[in-house]
Amino acid sequence: MTAVLEEVPAEELTPEQAAKELERLAEAIRHHDRLYHQEDSPEVPDADYDALSRRNAAIEARFPDLVRADSPSRRVGAAPVAGFAKVRHNRPMLSLGNAFDEAEVAEFLARIRRFLNLSDEEPVAVLAEPKIDGVSASLRYEKGRFIQGATRGDGTTGEDITANLRTLGDLPKELRGRIPDILEIRGEVYMRRDEFQALNARQEAAGEKVFANPRNAAAGSLRQLDPQITTARPLHFFAYAWGEISAPLGATLAEARDRLEDFGFTLNEPARLCRSLEELLAHHRELAERRPELPYDIDGVVYKVDRLDWQERLGFVSRAPRWAVAHKFPAEQAETLLKAIEVQVGRTGALTPVARLEPITVGGVVVSNATLHNEDEIARKDVRVGDTVVIQRAGDVIPQVVSVVLDKRPRGAKPYRFPIVCPVCGSHAVREINPTTGREDAARRCTGGLICPAQAVERLKHFVSRDAFDIEGLGAKQIEAFWRDELVKSPGDIFRLKARAEEITAREGWGEQSVANLMAAVEARRHIGLDRFIYALGIRQVGQATARLLALNYETLAGFREAMTAAAEEASPEYADLVAIDGVGPAVAADLAGFFAEAHNREILDDLAAQVEVEAAAVPAASASPVAGKTVVFTGTLERMTRSEAKARAEALGAKVAGSVSRKTDYLVAGAAAGSKAKKAAELGVATLSEEEWLDLIG
Ligand code: IVH
Repeated sequence: MTAVLEEVPAEELTPEQAAKELERLAEAIRHHDRLYHQEDSPEVPDADYDALSRRNAAIEARFPDLVRADSPSRRVGAAPVAGFAKVRHNRPMLSLGNAFDEAEVAEFLARIRRFLNLSDEEPVAVLAEPKIDGVSASLRYEKGRFIQGATRGDGTTGEDITANLRTLGDLPKELRGRIPDILEIRGEVYMRRDEFQALNARQEAAGEKVFANPRNAAAGSLRQLDPQITTARPLHFFAYAWGEISAPLGATLAEARDRLEDFGFTLNEPARLCRSLEELLAHHRELAERRPELPYDIDGVVYKVDRLDWQERLGFVSRAPRWAVAHKFPAEQAETLLKAIEVQVGRTGALTPVARLEPITVGGVVVSNATLHNEDEIARKDVRVGDTVVIQRAGDVIPQVVSVVLDKRPRGAKPYRFPIVCPVCGSHAVREINPTTGREDAARRCTGGLICPAQAVERLKHFVSRDAFDIEGLGAKQIEAFWRDELVKSPGDIFRLKARAEEITAREGWGEQSVANLMAAVEARRHIGLDRFIYALGIRQVGQATARLLALNYETLAGFREAMTAAAEEASPEYADLVAIDGVGPAVAADLAGFFAEAHNREILDDLAAQVEVEAAAVPAASASPVAGKTVVFTGTLERMTRSEAKARAEALGAKVAGSVSRKTDYLVAGAAAGSKAKKAAELGVATLSEEEWLDLIG
């Protein structure tokens, strides 16, 4: 009789029938949620999905006592389709720089000594702990109680996964001992190798998705909208850092680690406090050897300066701390057959050769494509279709073709000829001369610009990507389809999609709910920071760090646009201001000017600007500081700190540090033996401060 229950109206169900029906609905909705959110392959139209949710709600309204613990109406976030709520990190969650060999580790230590101006005798204690290959999370405790957990997200904003994190057995919900009122613990959620294999066996038996590696399994399990699924997944947590805290945890990392352990956290082991390069390298070698016997995957060793006051002084560059580095293990390699070479066209027109391979498992991941980098690399390695090649993969890096196994080359294999026309639009593909080096660019580029469909689509994909406009529900797949069917041809079109909601609803894979979600996601991005806006334009060589610099320097979109357009003239003061920004060289300046010299690009930008509200760049950190927003140039020898430290401190106080003096300079800080910059400052009437005066000014 169960089959016909679905047809009985909610008002006519008996309590027994209602309970059964709620169970069926919970299971069905969970199933569709998973297909929709995790597999990106919904099986039913949204309208059918909505009908299930509505029926669930109607029955629950009639039988409030029967609402299940795992009811779809009670899941994380409001409606299940709305996904996770956002959480802003009070202190950003950073990533780590990498070191791949001994020389890079030595350089890491030398840089710290230089920055802190330490004598050769002064020992620098560095804590070395394994780098766990999992997913990072931030846990907020107030008065010792776990109140919120979040993913890293883009480092500034993550997703609220509190309900899922609560299901982790070794995550303390209440802390022990003397605990700061506010304590944000950061660490890694991971799955052990044996548990991962058992999970995959269960998944396979149930006809469900199997995961490529423990990291993916941990990530997939944490991102479940239904905490019940997470409960069933074997996840663990290691604590290795902290965010906001209301009281310090000690003077050194080693002390802080002891406190964390006392609170009830499990730490990354085996860790060791080292006092020299040799000790660090010995620990690295030991861990590399013990790697197979550890129950979880590690992909390197993290080195962190032990003294917390030094960590504070060292601060951050872009998104990684100066006081830590990840010393990665060598990449894993394997041999396989190269079946074909395909050439892809990227956002900036670069032609990238991709190797299509006989699928092979490398380091626990199945690899079927690998990058061949560019034309010269193919020639240098003499890679030919039909060759057996050595490929390698390290961490999240795209797998690469390392070399050819010449003994296995089939007879008659011909040298590869790189195309000189764009494989997508047929325009000429050329290698430009780099203005800085005077040499040919490594990349051959399509000259078609936006008439090349590949470039146009790739630019749009970049535009909606996570670090740019970050429009949820509008991924690569949707952009390709919308572009093909002329719903979106330029960024501005995305903000006009509302007028075409009906058309979209009628498309396969879309329904009222998902279109409503998309429209909400688009609306949410009508306000955007200038740095993201600039990054989203996809100008060659303008990555996130450069975009942030530009936003800080030009402050408003109007100011930026005007200055860039004027900077197209190399003799202009605007060009001089641009190259004076520390971190913008002539090559980047040329790409910026080149972008704005094209009328077409200016039109696209203006069209977009009319649709959105660009927020002026926020001066970071202490906006109350007397130097916030000011442009400072350091010159000569400073006594009290190195130039790098002076620059880092100025930036932390919201100042912009430039490399040369221009009209825009507010202060020149002149140490001993200051030369031509002091003269130029005097000519331009720029205030010149001694080191002491500068320190007084910033307090
Ligand atoms: S410290 C501010 N220590 O690696 C520095 N990170 O590639 C915070 N990770 O995002 C990171 N084990 O998710 C640190 N022992 C460890 C780690 C570790 C794994 C992860 C972490 C980080 C990523 C950077």
